[in-house]
Amino acid sequence: MRTPHARADAAFESLKKKIEGRTARIAVIGLGYVGLPLAVEFSRSGFHVLGIDTEREKVDRVSRGDSYIHDVSSEELGREVRSGRLEATADFSRLLEADCVSICVPTPLRKTRDPDVSSIVSAAKQIAKYLHRGELVILESTTYPGTTDELILPMLEETGLKVGNDFFLGFSPERVDPGNKRFMTKNIPKVVGGVTPKCSKVAVALYKSSMSSVVRVSSTKVAEMVKLLENTFRSVNIGLVNEIALMCDKMKIDVWEVIEAAASKPFGFMPFYPGPGLGGHCIPIDPFYLSWKAKLSGFEARFIELAGQVNSSMPYHVVNKVGEALNSVRKSVRGSCIVLLGVAYKADVDDARESPALDIYQMLTALGAEVSYCDPYIPEIRTERFHIKAKPLTAELLEEADCVVITTAHSDFDYRLIAAKAGLIFDSRNALKGFKSDKIWRL
Ligand SMILES: NC(=O)c1ccc[n+]([C@@H]2O[C@H](COP(=O)([O-])OP(=O)(O)OC[C@H]3O[C@@H](n4cnc5c(N)ncnc54)[C@H](O)[C@@H]3O)[C@@H](O)[C@H]2O)c1
Repeated sequence: MRTPHARADAAFESLKKKIEGRTARIAVIGLGYVGLPLAVEFSRSGFHVLGIDTEREKVDRVSRGDSYIHDVSSEELGREVRSGRLEATADFSRLLEADCVSICVPTPLRKTRDPDVSSIVSAAKQIAKYLHRGELVILESTTYPGTTDELILPMLEETGLKVGNDFFLGFSPERVDPGNKRFMTKNIPKVVGGVTPKCSKVAVALYKSSMSSVVRVSSTKVAEMVKLLENTFRSVNIGLVNEIALMCDKMKIDVWEVIEAAASKPFGFMPFYPGPGLGGHCIPIDPFYLSWKAKLSGFEARFIELAGQVNSSMPYHVVNKVGEALNSVRKSVRGSCIVLLGVAYKADVDDARESPALDIYQMLTALGAEVSYCDPYIPEIRTERFHIKAKPLTAELLEEADCVVITTAHSDFDYRLIAAKAGLIFDSRNALKGFKSDKIWRL
C-alpha cells in the first residue's frame, strides 16, 4: 500500500501532466461576467471546459454559442462551442468528469451589509458530493480572507479526502475589469495562493497554461486579501475625490480642472474621478467583506466605513444639484421631465447592478419628477420596485426634457447633440468637458 506521501506525489504528478498536456478537464461553476470569459479562455488554450450554472437560460445560450456578456463575442463563444471544447450544463453530477474546478459564483452583501456567501456554500456542497482523488478546486469569487481555509476546506475534507494529498485547493481572485479593451482575463496577472505548497504548485501550473503571467503568494488568505486591498484602494480613493468634489462645490472651485492639473505630476499622484456614486458587483461591496471579517478580529476598518459613507451620499448630492439647477430656471423637481443618460454603473458596460443611477431615478421619482432614461447597453431595468424601458436618445427627447442628467459617460452618446439640444444639463461625469455654457451644471 502506498503511503499518503507517495499518494500525494502521484496525484500531483498526474494532474500536472494532464494540465501540461491540455488533457485536464476543467469545470467553471458560475457563467457570469467572470466565469464565462474564464471558461472561454481555458477553452481557447486547448482544454475541454464544462461551464456549470444554475440558470437554465444561461446554459442554453452558452450551448447555442449566444453570448450575453459584452466582453465575449458570440463569434468567439460559438467557435469554442463548435470545436467541442466548451460545453455548458446545469447538471452538477458532471463534476465527476472534472480534473480542475473553478468557482465563480456571486458574493453579494445581505441587507445588513454582512457577506452573503450562500452561493459559495452551495457550489462547495456540490463539489464535495462529487469530489474525487487528484482534483484541483480553486475559488475565484471575491470574498473575505479565510473563506477558502475556514469554509470550503472543512466541507471538502468531510468527504474523508485530505487536502494536499488526495485533492488540491486554492484561491485565485478574478481581477477582470469589464469593458476594458486592453486588460482582459488573459493578460491580467493571476494571483494564486494554495492551502499547501502542492496545491499552490498545481494551481500555478493551471493558470500558467492559459494566462500571460502568474503571481504566486504564500497562502489562500494572502490571495484573498490581495483582491480586497485592490478594491478597497479604489473605494477609498474614489471616496476621497468625491469628498474633494463636495468641498470644491462649496468653495466654487472646478474639481475637474484641479484633478487634471494634479495629474500632471509624474510621480506620487494617481487621478481618481468623482461621480454620482459607486456601482457594479465589486467596489461598493467587497470592502465590506473585509470590514466584516476585520470586526470579527476586533478591528474597526475606519477608512472603509468612511469611504462607504461618502460614496453612498453622492446620489443624494446629484439629486440636490438637479433641484438647484431646476430652481435656477424657476422650475421645481415635482412635475419636471428629467432624462437620465446612462444607467450602467460605468461607461460602455451592460451591467446596472448597484448603479447609482437607479438610486437617482428612485429619488427623483419620489420627489414627483417624471423620469425616463437612455442607455444603449441597458434596454430595460427590472428591480423589485420598478420596471422601465430605455428610450432612444433623440433631439426631441432632449428638447422636451426640463433637465438632462448625465449619469454614465458612454462613449456612444452624441455629446454634441446633447449639448446643443438639451435646455438644462447636470453632468455628473464631466462628459461635456470642453463644452462651455451656462445651461451646463457640473458635479
Ligand atoms: N463582475 C466583475 O467585474 C467582477 C470582477 C472581479 C471579480 N468579481 C467577482 O467574481 C464573482 C462572480 O461575479 P460575476 O460578476 O461574474 O457574477 P454574475 O452574477 O455575473 O455571475 C455569477 C453566475 O453564477 C451563477 N450561480 C449562482 N449561484 C450558483 C451556484 N450555486 N452554482 C452554479 N452557478 C451559480 C449565476 O446564475 C450567475 O450566472 C463575485 O465574487 C464577484 O465579486 C466580479
